[in-house]
Amino acid sequence: MLKMKNILDEKDKRLRTISKDVMFPLTVEDKKHIQDMLEYLKNSQIEELSEKYHLRPGMGLSAIQLGIAKRYFVVVYEYDEGKFENYVVINPKIISNSEEKIYVEFGEGCLSVNREVDGIIPRYARITIEGYDEEGNKIRVRAREELAIAFQHEMDHLNGVLFYDHIDKNNPFKDKDKYRAI
Ligand code: NI
Repeated sequence: MLKMKNILDEKDKRLRTISKDVMFPLTVEDKKHIQDMLEYLKNSQIEELSEKYHLRPGMGLSAIQLGIAKRYFVVVYEYDEGKFENYVVINPKIISNSEEKIYVEFGEGCLSVNREVDGIIPRYARITIEGYDEEGNKIRVRAREELAIAFQHEMDHLNGVLFYDHIDKNNPFKDKDKYRAI
């Protein structure tokens, strides 16, 4: 079972790696990592289990956060009370995006960043991504609002980017009025 200590901390340089495309079929290890990541994220969002296993709550994880430099991520999205949708996206690409940009009003979080970081990170309000599922079938996913932000955050990880890289250091709330807060 995946624990907090298995997730790389922001100080770890490996998080700055540009991950490589995944070849199919997936290895047994990668399939296991995907299941572990999904399990962690779901448990972390269920209060009772997050307390029991000391899991910091999170919505997404990329392979590089486990030290694996491959282009895949998973997101577990609670779309309704106690109802979760799992997303596993391999070799993802954004194929279209809205003009409109939004940001998380209280700041984005990341399981590799164990502190609060203030500031605005403009993200597309709606995106469509293409990629592959675990079996290597092509998939296309439309996402909006919170889910769209989660996908963009995870895709950054595949390029060695952390969310706070997008924040203007001298003026963290720069252009606040240009974007919609969610
Ligand atoms: Ni993250």
